[in-house]
Amino acid sequence: MSTDGNVTPNALAAYWMPFTANRAFKAAPRMFRAAQGMHYLTPDGRKVIDATSGLYCVNAGHANPRIVAAIKDAAGKLDYAPAFQFGHPEAFELASRLAMMSPADLDHVFFASSGSEAIDTALKIALSYHRRRGEGHRTRFIGRERGYHGVGFGGISVGGMPANRKVYGAMLGGVDHLPATYVRDKQAFSKGEPEWGAHLADELERILALHDPSNVAAVIVEPVAGSTGCLPPPKGYLQRLRAITEKYGILLIFDEVITAFGRLGAAFASDRYAVVPDMIAFAKGVTNGAVPMSGVIARAPIYEAHMDGAEHMPELFHGYTYSGHPLAMAAALATLDVYRDEGLFERAAGHEQLFADLMMSLRDAPGVLDIRPIGMICGIDLEPSGGGAGARGYEIMARGYHDEDIYIRVGGDTLVVAPPLIAGPSDLEAIRDRLARIIAASARA
Ligand SMILES: Cc1ncc(COP(=O)(O)O)c(C=O)c1O
Repeated sequence: MSTDGNVTPNALAAYWMPFTANRAFKAAPRMFRAAQGMHYLTPDGRKVIDATSGLYCVNAGHANPRIVAAIKDAAGKLDYAPAFQFGHPEAFELASRLAMMSPADLDHVFFASSGSEAIDTALKIALSYHRRRGEGHRTRFIGRERGYHGVGFGGISVGGMPANRKVYGAMLGGVDHLPATYVRDKQAFSKGEPEWGAHLADELERILALHDPSNVAAVIVEPVAGSTGCLPPPKGYLQRLRAITEKYGILLIFDEVITAFGRLGAAFASDRYAVVPDMIAFAKGVTNGAVPMSGVIARAPIYEAHMDGAEHMPELFHGYTYSGHPLAMAAALATLDVYRDEGLFERAAGHEQLFADLMMSLRDAPGVLDIRPIGMICGIDLEPSGGGAGARGYEIMARGYHDEDIYIRVGGDTLVVAPPLIAGPSDLEAIRDRLARIIAASARA
């Protein structure tokens, strides 16, 4: 790197890219320079259809004018306000709106900036809540195999994706995992929630017997596991988890970082399943991805348990410099307006069947092992190629960008399709057609 202050604008070496094959990317970069609606624009002027809403966050489509205007306006009005001991009106307005949107007595909202921070926040609130109630012995957490809860030490500890954990040492102590809800033999090519597998929730009883339920603070799951390849919950599974956690006074945390804000055709997965968790972690779609933003919505008793002690003291020793950031609040308020005024959650529900049928029509493409559509998200498992695990998935992602003008998120040899909720039938067909071509081409390679 030069030390004279000049940086070559197109040098790729300095940026250590996250969750990226850096060497392969830098050998053949995949760049976006602009975005509008359903599409990204490449530096060479191609329109690339966005089949995964960025990273499951651009639910209202790119560069929605109301969201853009709100962010611009906020930046000029109040660039930053201290998050600790001071406030600004939009943070209270947004918290009230989210409390109103969320089910039952999920009435209090803590803000952070990323999904990973929201997960750490939820886990810490769970510990603090039990301690406040004189149950400080409840320190254990139970996550789930194949769960993804971000990359903080809390998130990887309760998460269940081996590659994200294996080099990071002991992580949080006292964590156990439920089995994944997915068994291909029993569930392949289910549309929506599979019929088989509700009994997997009963594994919680076995785990609790080992650790004793009185030592467990919380169970955390994604209602639909997203990043691991879209695993919808078996019918009745989440209801059973709720019943068991309730029986033993254990908090149930839903990680709705992907599932909230319309992805499943409702404001929250909790609405779709009529299951009220004790906390909901959210991020991504809350600002349409336009400003980093996340949070935790907690039930009233959790907040109220904290409201004692000396009045001049913070009740929870936790928070971030960017909690309730003015730009994020403005983006989120505008985003919620867009979701409401454009009826995007209803639109997602209305397109669920068409989307599922289009995805299922890829069933006979070469080497397709399973297709799992639910709401506006779908996992597609492919047989690995001779290049080894993940090589075919990588090739599809790269070929999609370079040859077929489609952006798609892959994990290993699994594709995850999750288009913006503004997608119309012709967009969904275009996504299906391009996927059909690259899946076929990748089988021939
Ligand atoms: C369910 C879930 N939880 C947490 C996270 C982490 O969010 P972030 O990358 O903003 O930290 C993600 C990100 O994809 C997620 O899908």
